[in-house]
Amino acid sequence: ADEGMWLPLYVKRLNHADMQKKGLKLTAEEIYDVNNASLKDAIVQLGGFCTGEFVSSRGLMLSNHHCGYDALQSHSTPEKNILQDGFFAATPADEKTNPGLFVDILVRMEDVGAKVLEGVTPQMSEQERTALVQKHQKEIADAAKENGQYVAYVRDFFAGNEYYLFVYQRFGDVRLVGAPPEAVGKFGGDTDNWMWPRHTGDFSMFRVYASKDNKPTTGPMTDNVPYQPKKHLSVSLQGVSEGDFAMVFGFPGRTQRFLPAAGLQLTLDQSNPARVKLRDKRLKLWKEDMDQSPDIRLKYASKYAGIANYWKYYLGQNEGMKRLKTVEAKQTEEAALAQWIAADPARTQLYGAALNDINQSYTGLREYNLTSVYLNEAAFGNELTAFAARMLPLYTLLKDPKADPAAVKKATADLKEPVEEFFKDYNVATDKKVYAALMQMYYTDVPKAQHPEIFRTVEKQYGGSLKKYADYVFANSFLTSKAKVEAFLAKPTLAQLEKDPAFATMNSVYTNYTQNILPKQQAFQAPLGRANRAYVAALRAKNTDKVYSPDANSTLRLSYGTVRPYNGRDAIQYDYKTTAQGILEKEDATNPEFAVPVKELALLKAKDYGRFADKNGQLPVAFITDNDITGGNSGSPVINGRGELIGIAFDGNWEAMTGDLAYDPNLKRCINVDIRYVLWCIEKLGGAKSLVDEMTIVNNGPNPG
Ligand code: ARG
Repeated sequence: ADEGMWLPLYVKRLNHADMQKKGLKLTAEEIYDVNNASLKDAIVQLGGFCTGEFVSSRGLMLSNHHCGYDALQSHSTPEKNILQDGFFAATPADEKTNPGLFVDILVRMEDVGAKVLEGVTPQMSEQERTALVQKHQKEIADAAKENGQYVAYVRDFFAGNEYYLFVYQRFGDVRLVGAPPEAVGKFGGDTDNWMWPRHTGDFSMFRVYASKDNKPTTGPMTDNVPYQPKKHLSVSLQGVSEGDFAMVFGFPGRTQRFLPAAGLQLTLDQSNPARVKLRDKRLKLWKEDMDQSPDIRLKYASKYAGIANYWKYYLGQNEGMKRLKTVEAKQTEEAALAQWIAADPARTQLYGAALNDINQSYTGLREYNLTSVYLNEAAFGNELTAFAARMLPLYTLLKDPKADPAAVKKATADLKEPVEEFFKDYNVATDKKVYAALMQMYYTDVPKAQHPEIFRTVEKQYGGSLKKYADYVFANSFLTSKAKVEAFLAKPTLAQLEKDPAFATMNSVYTNYTQNILPKQQAFQAPLGRANRAYVAALRAKNTDKVYSPDANSTLRLSYGTVRPYNGRDAIQYDYKTTAQGILEKEDATNPEFAVPVKELALLKAKDYGRFADKNGQLPVAFITDNDITGGNSGSPVINGRGELIGIAFDGNWEAMTGDLAYDPNLKRCINVDIRYVLWCIEKLGGAKSLVDEMTIVNNGPNPG
């Protein structure tokens, strides 16, 4: 029931005693230790966007299906569709390499606040401070890289009041080992997404490879062998009961729980509605074409899932903010803070300007906010514009008469892979519709004074019709054809790029942003940065009885709690677990979101659960805990009090969609796939018992809690 994504570095000091009270049997050192193998060595950040955990001494790793979705799609064709049918590698040779995909394993983290803030004075302008802080951050990270042996960076915490260094090993050879059919891994589709109760087998398997001496390599190598992690998790068949201790270890991406009321208000009444409106359009147009052809469906599957996931997130966040009165609650908190500050001259000296500055900054930012949202979601929300932007580094060099020819060569070579990737999943006719529709909305909805230059041409020559303009762009751009792009890259010239209508349009939008919009935003963001820092410092100084946990920022965190049901709304009580019975209840062969694979249907009807049934003879599917998680935690292990794996976290619940902005202990739950369902899907449904046998399966009696 506790808010908090805690830094493992401080678990001993801040959380361990409370964790023991809830049922933890491990020492703090068994969770996080720099010198000896500890739980943290079994946790990886997958590709910078998800979490994974080792479950064997040979680098076998579990994550979510939706984290492996892109890899699954990239290895699929309409003829051999492993995304749809599922797949488990029978031999190491069947494991599929994924160039570009990597995992990061934390070596250590360190408080570097004093070093980062050395020489910073209250008299400095915000620009001076930022420059000095960034210089120090870079120096510290560079030193920690030890000549490229490690990946290292310094991240700010509590709005720039604290700084920590993170040092990782990065393994660039991560191979796909298996996943259930999409109808299992994404069962319930977008209808069930962000909701409980859930019946989704949201898992996939990878294996991390390393050189023969167990060292990371930058990419897949033929000589590589399975990585031997310092630590892998044992897998518990014991199952879960209400009240059991549960902890989630992973890489939560971003929360904004210190966002002031004015920021929440802007999200609520402007950013989120615009995002929903624009994504709605994009998804409808994509779906029209996906429904027409299996080839297009496969090409757009991953893009669609990603856009749809956050379309529903923004919708749910807004619905929740209204229902839970999130803005009003923050306003009340700010009013109390203002009183506390005003009551003491020393506080007034330190924090007196913060709240006013925050509100003024947001008033200023509001004027340009819509343009920012439309830039991301509309102008660059079509694929052609985003692809054209990939040419910008090359363009900059071509424009510079003194540019080093070697640099031009490198910039050209760097485009080879993005070009491959882009055209692999591109359908011109689909994107043309999206381009016309989204650009039209950009043209219509964004204040005219903030329009890019190119819209004058659209007005003069095309009567303001972005559809007519799109006809012209798509008929004349070389960027829509792989052959033409490759011909251009073989002999790139400034003239050809500059006169390309898709590039020129992108460049007009982009230049308008960097020259006319961004500087205005920055003028408000600098004072806002300073004010936020003071505001967060004031909150922490006022509420000394409360231990604040820092906002998520894609660094390793631990959250702990218990298996726990909840009361969703008046009269609605949710159980803490689901079973395969619910799959049969939801099953609907006429609805792709709820279709159940023939083999699974047969096994479930025969109640063929093997050794994975629970005490009541049911096959467990999912359960909820009150762990505090967010996006990026996807794929995180759910660990019992003995440090054994009991599930994989994969989602949050609808009633707590405001969780990234404000935490509600009564409503917020973490949705996990039960590890027994995962094993059932691998062994019984997938026929890949050898992969289960590779794991350390334990049955050590009831979970502590
Ligand atoms: N909402 C989940 C998350 O962001 C992703 C679930 C993916 N499933 C889906 N039906 N799109 O972590």
